[in-house]
Amino acid sequence: MPEKKRILSGMRPTGPLHLGNLHGALANWVKMQEQYDCFFFIADWHALTSDYEDTASISGYIHNMLIDWLSAGLSPEKSTLFIQSHIKEHAELFLILSMITPVPWLERNPTYKDQIVQLSNKDLSTFGFLGYPVLQAADIIIYKANGVPVGVDQVPHVEITREIARRFNYFYGNVFPEPESILTETPKILGIDRRKMSKSYNNAIYFSASPDEIAAGVSKMLTDPQRARKSDPGDPDVCNVYEFHKFYSDSKTVDRINQECRTAKIGCVECKKIMAQNLIKALEPMREKREYYEARPQLVDDIIKDGCDKARRVARRTMAEVRAAVNL
Ligand code: TRP
Ligand code: SF4
Repeated sequence: MPEKKRILSGMRPTGPLHLGNLHGALANWVKMQEQYDCFFFIADWHALTSDYEDTASISGYIHNMLIDWLSAGLSPEKSTLFIQSHIKEHAELFLILSMITPVPWLERNPTYKDQIVQLSNKDLSTFGFLGYPVLQAADIIIYKANGVPVGVDQVPHVEITREIARRFNYFYGNVFPEPESILTETPKILGIDRRKMSKSYNNAIYFSASPDEIAAGVSKMLTDPQRARKSDPGDPDVCNVYEFHKFYSDSKTVDRINQECRTAKIGCVECKKIMAQNLIKALEPMREKREYYEARPQLVDDIIKDGCDKARRVARRTMAEVRAAVNL
């Protein structure tokens, strides 16, 4: 049997995960576990590139992210789950790669330019923030990953990773495969205010939310903006609540909502109540798993320790090759 392809991806621990993350990255990762040799890690050093001033919350975020991952179905039996800063080899490879990475590659990185504008409230004129893609390249190639599941915003970083790997191989001999981006489809569901679901927009439904919090979030959702009164017919095709129905309600309900919305037989309040109930039910298994892991912090620590040990073994092997190739 041919060896499984290795894929790797990471997330910065900047807060609780929401349904946008679930439908975007995480559900995809859970599926990939069946098919690939998966490495998933928490990019805590990357979180420091923009949030270096106040680091008080980071360890809590890391622990919660692990619980979010486990409750969504990432499995320590199937995947290697670890924390970036626990594998010091990433830092050594980052340093070596920084020697061969031309600064203009980093300065013209579209994500860099975009973030400097978007996060203008933070001082991002740091060495570490400019070098973000170099650290990301080290994360990826130290495991010789073949594929990197990411959203479109991260594609430039994988592109820089390929260029850095190619340059390393050109100078020192063929050590690294060039990884491919595996594009994650952006989720169709939007936030409560119909913008992209995001923690910073304050419009998210978190999958750690209680049933009451879910119901409250759903009841505030904006619907078809043309539908002012219950007697006006609505258009489910432009309604975010309907998108949620398509994910969380059975097909009979979806068809009925579609019809009754268009004919003004059902009002938005009732429609949302039905959706909220189904959403709460669909997230029930995740809530149970979360409670299980929250009651067993030692188990979560053991899972991460095992994952880090596995990752470290691979990273050490690569670094031995790297040092030999660079003649160190
Ligand atoms: N930059 C990624 C993000 O913000 C996180 C990340 C760090 C990553 N290292 C990685 C993703 C390596 C994929 C592979 O989403
Ligand atoms: Fe949206 Fe439902 Fe209201 Fe139609 S009835 S506009 S689908 S919330």
